[in-house]
Amino acid sequence: MKKILLGSVILLAILLFAVYNMLNRMPSKELSLNEQVYEILSDAECLMCHSYNPELPFYAKIPLVRRPIYKDINAAIKEENLKPVMDSMANGVPVSITAVNKIEQIAIKGNMPPTRFYLLHWGSQLTQEKRDVIISWAKQQRLEGYLSQLQDSALANKLSAEPVFPILYDIPVDSAKVELGYKLYHDTRLSLDNTVSCASCHGLNTGGVDNKQYSEGVDGKLGGVNAPTVYNAVYNFVQFWDGRAATLAAQAAGPPLNPVEMASTSFEEIISKLENDKALTAEFKKVYPDGYSEANITDAIQEFEKTLITKNSPFDRYMMGDESAMTEQQIAGYNDFKKYSCATCHSGVNFGGNTYELMGTRSNYFTARGTEVTTEDLGRYKETKSEYDRHKFKVPGLRNVALTAPYFHDGTITSLKNAIMYMGEYQLNVNLSQEETDNIEAFLHALTGEIPTTAKVSE
Ligand code: HEC
Ligand code: HEC
Ligand code: HEC
Repeated sequence: MKKILLGSVILLAILLFAVYNMLNRMPSKELSLNEQVYEILSDAECLMCHSYNPELPFYAKIPLVRRPIYKDINAAIKEENLKPVMDSMANGVPVSITAVNKIEQIAIKGNMPPTRFYLLHWGSQLTQEKRDVIISWAKQQRLEGYLSQLQDSALANKLSAEPVFPILYDIPVDSAKVELGYKLYHDTRLSLDNTVSCASCHGLNTGGVDNKQYSEGVDGKLGGVNAPTVYNAVYNFVQFWDGRAATLAAQAAGPPLNPVEMASTSFEEIISKLENDKALTAEFKKVYPDGYSEANITDAIQEFEKTLITKNSPFDRYMMGDESAMTEQQIAGYNDFKKYSCATCHSGVNFGGNTYELMGTRSNYFTARGTEVTTEDLGRYKETKSEYDRHKFKVPGLRNVALTAPYFHDGTITSLKNAIMYMGEYQLNVNLSQEETDNIEAFLHALTGEIPTTAKVSE
């Protein structure tokens, strides 16, 4: 009798083990890495928590179970909506480097899906084998997405394991347009009373910003949001904190007519002023035979901005093999920057600028700030009117961040150290130690690059 019982228990254990393993099966090696990771994430049911309006199992309706489930979903969706990411993967469309870094991070840490989830949802656990596939995929994404033109394959391989990149390539430009763009960038005639140029708020010798909380436009009028830098803006996937401009040219059409910035009433008004300048008009016609227009003016400014990339920072030199380019403290800071997942949102070549993220994923920044919530605080919501986008901002790039105080869209934080501590608290729920904060600050100083020659003509 005992033997039969023991035998059945063993048989059942073997059976359960077999079922568990079957459910945890690996995707076929014949598939591309992208397809394999798509399958792994599907089997792991990431979307059950990381998507808007997920399809939930029946027991999610049971009163006592309901609360913890919805708590999970609410916390998860603040961090990441994986639906568009997985849709892109299914269609073979490259995903943002931030999404790659985030998925890689959870594969390294092994913290997703949460244990309480995979114990109930058999087959959803990310086994070590699956995590290894995700890590290989992340490398491949970086190689294909940014490193493909790199001749030195050993360097490319090394860099493919990093969440942030050095600036490796110049962006091809038309130098005649760049020269025109430089002039227009400094031309105060783009403003109503000929007092304000792009350079007034984005000084090329002051990190591409004005170092004010809010910028001053014509007649000293104040805007309601901090000016981001023009340096390396070309790497951003969209422009403005709320992403309302798709390109630098579209962005450049904004300030001239913005009543609190340059306050011109129309491009016709600007053009009639520029037409009085015989030398400029002749030069313009040479480059743009159809003469002045909003499209041509903003195209020239955009071409100039493509050259505003700051190469050869200590970080860039370090990543390219010069081990003495960063101090020991800066190297420790870089490791902390990666360890604490700063490099998930602040990712890629510009240390950000490729996704919208919530300000306050782990605790509410706006409640803690205590001042009234302004229209600008709504962020991406202003454009989409979707509740999910409330307080989401295009992640600012961190290159030259040591030069661009004050910080955040509301310009309320004056020291870089405090900005780092705030990020720890509001985005990650960690209290960084004094030493870690100092190290990360030292590291961020290593992101200050060289001013390109095109920006130096005169200021
Ligand atoms: C049961 C719900 C649930 C499932 C399923 C789930 N997550 Fe999460 N996820 C969360 C919660 C809750 C958080 C918030 C942070 C925390 O509590 O650790 C989170 C945070 C994250 C984060 C950001 C923070 C971090 O730790 O890096 C990423 C990225 C993430 N999840 C990816 C995934 C992926 C990929 C899957 C599928 C393999 C997955 N999650 C499955 C609930 C879930
Ligand atoms: C009065 C000050 C002021 C002037 C003049 C001004 N800007 Fe800005 N600029 C800002 C502010 C403030 C923002 C942020 C606005 C927002 O995100 O809603 C900004 C945003 C930008 C961005 C987006 C950067 C990013 O990371 O999103 C670029 C690029 C830029 N300006 C270039 C220009 C150019 C080119 C001109 C001249 C045509 C110009 N600016 C004129 C204050 C100014
Ligand atoms: C969940 C995504 C996310 C993570 C993780 C994150 N950040 Fe940020 N970071 C943001 C967003 C979004 C902003 C803009 C917030 C705002 O303006 O209100 C920002 C702003 C900043 C700024 C200010 C930049 C400026 O020009 O104003 C610094 C500095 C910064 N982060 C550093 C860090 C550091 C250091 C870490 C790690 C300790 C970190 N961030 C982690 C999303 C993130």
